[in-house]
Amino acid sequence: MVRSTWRIGLHAVTAALAGLTTLAAVQVPAAAAPTTLRGLADARGVYFGTSSTVNEWNDAPYRSLAERETNMITVGNEMKWDATEPSPGRFDFGPADSLVAAAKAAGQRLRGHTLVWHNQTPGWVQELGTAELRQAMQNHIRTEVAHYRGQLYAWDVVNEAFEENGTLRQSFWQQKLGDGYIAEAFRAARAADPGAKLYYNDYNIEGIAAKSDGVYNLVRTLKQQGVPIDGVGMQAHLILGAVPDSMRQNIQRFVDLGVEVAITELDIRMPLPAEATKLAGQAADYTKVAQACLGVTGCVGITTWALSDKHSWVPSVFPGEGAALPFDENFRPKPAYNALWRAYGGTGGTRTCVATYAVIGQWWGGFQAEVRVTAGAAPITGWTVNWAFAEGQAITSSWNAAFATNGAAITARSLSYNGSLGSGGSTTFGFTGSWTAANSVPAVSCAA
Ligand code: XIL
Repeated sequence: MVRSTWRIGLHAVTAALAGLTTLAAVQVPAAAAPTTLRGLADARGVYFGTSSTVNEWNDAPYRSLAERETNMITVGNEMKWDATEPSPGRFDFGPADSLVAAAKAAGQRLRGHTLVWHNQTPGWVQELGTAELRQAMQNHIRTEVAHYRGQLYAWDVVNEAFEENGTLRQSFWQQKLGDGYIAEAFRAARAADPGAKLYYNDYNIEGIAAKSDGVYNLVRTLKQQGVPIDGVGMQAHLILGAVPDSMRQNIQRFVDLGVEVAITELDIRMPLPAEATKLAGQAADYTKVAQACLGVTGCVGITTWALSDKHSWVPSVFPGEGAALPFDENFRPKPAYNALWRAYGGTGGTRTCVATYAVIGQWWGGFQAEVRVTAGAAPITGWTVNWAFAEGQAITSSWNAAFATNGAAITARSLSYNGSLGSGGSTTFGFTGSWTAANSVPAVSCAA
């Protein structure tokens, strides 16, 4: 008895000391652990980004996922020449402007893509003679870069200018303007926006090989000549099981030239259908790519080419292949997501849950919304979804979740029957609400 009492006493003292320690810790609160790739990237001072077209951005669950998980947006198609200057001197920046405004409103930075390329460039450009082509290139760069001056983190100034064997691509640019067109393009871009990082961007330059040697020599020469180049973008449209072993070393050699490096269009495609073994292999490949970049100081971030398999360009260009991105067609995180999560420094091995919000019906003054909650790789036993209504919307009736409202802030919690979700499992809840001036989709967050 005595001994037992003594032990209880010691426990009490220990507990009291622990309490003091906790109190001390509370006075200097540590930053909350990130729950998204965006948060992890912010904490590391790097970025995780995605491309987005206007169509993708208008897909509400995609947008809310992109806002939640990424801190960098590359405009997918709307800044290309065929979109911005479809006929000589007639510029249209409307669609790209809308994406720039939306990303800025969501606190995301932007990469501009792309100024000089042999694809998605109108016929009228390709048909010009040498002097006119040079003038058109200068004018295009000057006008577009000046339009976005001060608003973009970086520009892909020249895209895909090399052949696989490491010689300059025999594009109409090269054939009419000669090798010097690349330096001319960078100089024109710098003059129009001295604050944007200027990138050379290409595919199949992730490992050390003839093509990346060609780019390496170009960058070295440009630097020697004082041409303003700040970065090399490795697109990284990769194939399952074929991430080059020399990727990290290759990134390092470019950084050693005095430029930064970014992974600009990452996707890792596989023969369809996707199944567990391939998805696990893909996760290992994502780990390899992310570690290659994040392991080199000077590799500033990774962008995937779209975020979910729903919007990937892969199936339309490589028939029979796909499933190349970290989220599946229903926006559920795949093993590749968890691989990125760990590579960016996330703990716990998996994230907890993801929520996507969609307005599924809207009428004058009212609307109905559905929120889908999806577990990460580990099963969960309860979830909480949060968002804020910035435009005065109010909930009138709801189902499948317990709601709490505090001003504009909404919290929805699982109920006894829908809190437990298996790995990758999902459930939905919903509500009807009222709206007045506007009813945009809020960014939602999920915790389990
Ligand atoms: C792709 C877009 O995703 C498609 O929508 C479009 O039809 C073709 O271009 N390298 C690049 C990107 O630099 O601009 C390409 O984007 C993919 C390959």
